[in-house]
This record gives sequence, structure tokens and C-alpha cells, in this order.
Amino acid sequence: MTTETTTKTTTETTTTAAPAATAGTAQASDTTQGDRPVLAMDHVSYAYTKGGKQVVKDLSHDFHAGRVIAIVGPSGAGKTTVLSLLSGLTSPTAGRVLYNGNDLAKADRYRFRSHDIGVIFQSFNLLPSLTVEENITLSMEASGKPFGKPKHELVVDLLAKVRLPAEYANERILHLSGGEQQRVAIARALGYDPDIVLADEPTGNLDMATQDDIMAIFRSLAHEEGKCVIIVTHSPAVADQSDEVFQLKPLRR
Ligand SMILES: Nc1ncnc2c1ncn2[C@@H]1O[C@H](COP(=O)(O)OP(=O)(O)OP(=O)(O)O)[C@@H](O)[C@H]1O
Ligand SMILES: [Mg+2]
Repeated sequence: MTTETTTKTTTETTTTAAPAATAGTAQASDTTQGDRPVLAMDHVSYAYTKGGKQVVKDLSHDFHAGRVIAIVGPSGAGKTTVLSLLSGLTSPTAGRVLYNGNDLAKADRYRFRSHDIGVIFQSFNLLPSLTVEENITLSMEASGKPFGKPKHELVVDLLAKVRLPAEYANERILHLSGGEQQRVAIARALGYDPDIVLADEPTGNLDMATQDDIMAIFRSLAHEEGKCVIIVTHSPAVADQSDEVFQLKPLRR
């Protein structure tokens, strides 16, 4: 084997340059799985207003299963915009986002969002007056997926995965610390066992030890469960602990 999943590849791209420099990742993907990427951007551009400024311009990149990919770049470079394009929340103004080779714009995006991708928002988006278990089971139910076990048992398994004690199932979100809420947000995103996990600044407000712990969870999701984990981050330590770094540069004016 010439490439291991731990091989770090750094892809630099500028949102102004036409072809994204994907040579490094293409090489990695050829040997890791020999298969197509689970998620891909194919010459994607995006403008928030019709005819307005493009905040993402002609971006191409392949995202493979079994890897943790960090998306980095200065504030305003378009990281959050790229996450909303990858998660199917918004559609590109030009180009395509492909899930297993299928154009998301032509697919059932509700199904994609509720089954195949788990998103962890920077602000968590948990329902504060509900319990941990209620927050997690809500998204499990919304997916409509069949579950082989009682939901409470699944919740306890998920809490163990994010290293929270089972008793936390009945705690209200309001009573949890920021780091604990982050773990619940991850557990909720994993509730319906998606192929892809996307996280926007998941360690932004956490101390270093908690940050490392959260990164260990993400690495195990990728390396042991074969998920594709994509993380937007400003943290050099998080980028360092990822398998691949995808660098967004600001659009030149
Ligand atoms: N809803 C919106 N309407 C119009 N412009 C927007 C909107 N959201 C973001 N933008 C613009 O798009 C560009 C990219 O924003 P984005 O939020 O993707 O950057 P970012 O890389 O995530 O930055 P940060 O690191 O600060 O979170 C910025 O110039 C921003 O002003
Ligand atoms: Mg952002």
C-alpha cells in the first residue's frame, strides 16, 4: 500500500483560480479505496444574490470515506458557504455537488440531509429546554430510518461514543457546559448513522484537552467506521490532527 489514511495531503486552492489543485488528493484516493469520492465539488461557484459577487468560484474537490478533512482559510474565505453547499442546504449557482456520483441538485435533498449527512453547527442548534435524549431522538425520528434497537439504548450507545455518561440522557441541554453540548450535537448528528459528518468550527470554544478529545472522536468515526468527516476550523491543532487539509483562499478583488 503506497498511501495510508494517515497520510496528510494539503490541497491549496484559491477561489479565483480556475482548476483546483487536487493532484495530491486524487493520488491518495486512487490508492486508499480505489473508488469514487463519497462527496465531490465539481467546478462549484456560488453567489448569495443573483448576479452578485461570487463568494465561491470554480471550486473542485473530492472528499473520500474514511478520512478527516479540515477546511481552513481566513475569515470570509467562504468556509461556511462551502459547508452549506456540501450539506445540500444551498445549491451552487454553477457547477455540481455530487453525492456518490449523483448531482445533489437533482436528488431528494431532504432525504440526503436527513439520512446521509450529519451536520454539527457552530452554535449547536440544540433545543435548550428539551433533554439530551429528546434532542437526539428527534433527528432519529425525522430520518424515518428503521432502528434495530429501542431508541433509549441507541441514545446510551451514542452518548458512550461521545464520552458522556448514560445519566446525561435525562439532563436538559440548558444545564450542560459548552463542551458537553458539543458532544450532544455530535451524538445527534450520528443518530441516524450518516455516511458523512460535517462540522463548522466544532472546537471553536473548547479548551485544548476537550478539543483533542473531540478530534479523537472524529478520527475514530473516519478511521474505524469509515465515515467521511469534514471539519471547518481556524485551529492549526485541529488541521494537524486531520488526514487532509483543504485550504480556501480569499477571493481577490
Ligand atoms: N447570507 C449571506 N448573504 C450575503 N453574503 C453572505 C452571506 N453569508 C456570507 N456571505 C458572504 O460570503 C463570504 C463568505 O462567507 P462565509 O461565511 O462562507 O465565510 P467563512 O470563511 O465561513 O468566514 P468565518 O471564518 O468568519 O466564519 C463573505 O464575504 C460573507 O460576507
Ligand atoms: Mg464561517
